[in-house]
Amino acid sequence: MRGILTYIKWLGTDVPRKKMPRGSGIFKLKGLKRAADPDKGLAVYTQKCQSCHQASGAGLLVAGTSSYVYPPLWGSNSYNIGAGLFRLSNLAGYVRYNMPLGATYERPQLTDEEAWDVAAYINSKPRPTLDLSRDWPNLAGKPFDHPFGPFTDPFSEKQHKYGPFKPIKDWKETHKKKSPKKLLKNQLAQL
Ligand code: HEC
Repeated sequence: MRGILTYIKWLGTDVPRKKMPRGSGIFKLKGLKRAADPDKGLAVYTQKCQSCHQASGAGLLVAGTSSYVYPPLWGSNSYNIGAGLFRLSNLAGYVRYNMPLGATYERPQLTDEEAWDVAAYINSKPRPTLDLSRDWPNLAGKPFDHPFGPFTDPFSEKQHKYGPFKPIKDWKETHKKKSPKKLLKNQLAQL
């Protein structure tokens, strides 16, 4: 515990309180006008990702061990459906400025479009599940790209997963002040 606290303090060296240091967290990409496309993403994946993460998505183990040289991106050992990366905006933002290995913010290797599509391809694949049914007691607080209903807005799970996200964000913006309970009631009445 002492070690972890020391590490956290060290990470915060020279960072003013309540200030987010530049470059921390995951970059927020501009959204696409269309839904992100797993088929287009497959082409990006084949060309720029599978040499390390493998065509199977299972990654690559260090020979004779259970640790990875290249982590799995889908399948039973990958991140589960509750992980931050299962939200498309996080995966696309991470990949845009960190992958293929060696890419940086200053020297990205993918376009925004490629990042969204390859993210769609990866997140269209099977991965471990998790019970998320109690994660959002306030349904209106679900992020625009949380891919599981119920939602307070009228958009499908598919659109919440792959976009386009602008209509969802716009809807959320215009309905911000209304009580989430009322909205859900309206939604259920329409079913
Ligand atoms: C040269 C090898 C290499 C290539 C090519 C590569 N990656 Fe990676 N990737 C890695 C390594 C190594 C890591 C582990 C994190 C690190 O070391 O930064 C990683 C981590 C990741 C992660 C995080 C996984 C997790 O569970 O935290 C994602 C997502 C990812 N890569 C996606 C991609 C995508 C998409 C591409 C293609 C655009 C790609 N990678 C190309 C080597 C590679």
